[in-house]
Amino acid sequence: MSNPIYSLQVELPLAGDRSYPIVIGHGLLDDGERFTELLGDSPVVLVSNDTVAPLYLSRVRGALGKGRKVTEVILPDGEDQKQLISADKIWQHALKDHHERRSVFIALGGGVIGDLTGYSAACFLRGVDFIQLPTTLLAQVDSSVGGKTGVNHPLGKNMIGAFHQPRAVLIDLDSLQTLPDREFAAGLAEVIKYGCIWDPGFFNWLIDQREALRDRSHGVLAEAIQRSCAIKADVVAQDEREGGLRAILNFGHTFAHAIEQVMGYGVWLHGEAVACGMVMAAKISAARGHISNDTAAQLAQFLVSFDLPVKPPSEMSAAVFLNAMAGDKKVVRGKIRYVLLESLGSACLVDDVTIEEIAQAMAE
Ligand SMILES: NC(=O)c1ccc[n+]([C@@H]2O[C@H](COP(=O)([O-])OP(=O)(O)OC[C@H]3O[C@@H](n4cnc5c(N)ncnc54)[C@H](O)[C@@H]3O)[C@@H](O)[C@H]2O)c1
Repeated sequence: MSNPIYSLQVELPLAGDRSYPIVIGHGLLDDGERFTELLGDSPVVLVSNDTVAPLYLSRVRGALGKGRKVTEVILPDGEDQKQLISADKIWQHALKDHHERRSVFIALGGGVIGDLTGYSAACFLRGVDFIQLPTTLLAQVDSSVGGKTGVNHPLGKNMIGAFHQPRAVLIDLDSLQTLPDREFAAGLAEVIKYGCIWDPGFFNWLIDQREALRDRSHGVLAEAIQRSCAIKADVVAQDEREGGLRAILNFGHTFAHAIEQVMGYGVWLHGEAVACGMVMAAKISAARGHISNDTAAQLAQFLVSFDLPVKPPSEMSAAVFLNAMAGDKKVVRGKIRYVLLESLGSACLVDDVTIEEIAQAMAE
């Protein structure tokens, strides 16, 4: 078995035995011994897409071993595949191959494949286990951890879904070498989010490590991923189903989902929309006197240095934002809920952001 660089556990204290490991290292996609340890002789439904499969599927297939029943489902690439009909394709393959309750679904890909496969596993035979093999930075630090699974609906993103925790998350750092720059940057937006809401030391460390991150230095990336996952695991352990604390992970996301919805899903990458949304939320936090203007500017500079957008699309006014946000899952009792910073490293939920504050946050 390959030696991981980091290994951490997502503890779910209120959920009996459902805690699970996140393993970060090299060569994990090839690690047959680890798969045997995790799976025993369980049959597998292996889901990927037509971009990731040619790069990594044969490695995973090889590591799963010859004696095991493996059903491969390769979907077209794209956010527009994250819909019920794709889940149905997975179920059809699984049913035709007579998969059973002890079968394990495996998601090999970014957040789209992870969310979709997790949701398919949550519903198949009323719930089978699944394993996340996240291959984008965003999926490694965010979507693969925490058990939120789901698909989009024509009337809203991620509107249909289930909380379903994976059996394990295996983060193979080698997979990042083929990730396009734009996708890598989108993942970094979620990484610095954790510093903003939870750990000022991590925020400052990321700013210091900007060059090493740009070079995708393995050591720095491994640490950035580990610290991100540890923070997410900590938050999820305290609030698995977003009754309160977990909502702070949505820093920047209220604005981001509005951008994604208005521009059309996939036009702005999720992480790009989050970058812009975080800067808007940070500017409002600064205008309220919670953080300094310098901190908001540092965040924006970090994001800009990875070519991430920090200004909303020109076609969106504050009123367009408000209208789009009114349909978001974050609306509670008719009020839009925003995550602001009460200081660097500490987030709060508010529902009293005014249209004037939004307009101000959109200005230069
Ligand atoms: N469940 C959650 O908690 C959660 C959190 C954040 C985001 N999400 C969801 O995650 C999705 C976004 O995830 P994403 O950013 O990973 O997008 P994605 O899954 O679409 O992947 C981005 C692109 O990179 C390609 N790709 C993946 N791995 C690659 C690799 N190693 N080398 C080369 N190309 C590779 C993909 O095929 C795709 O074209 C959204 O649907 C979002 O709603 C979910």
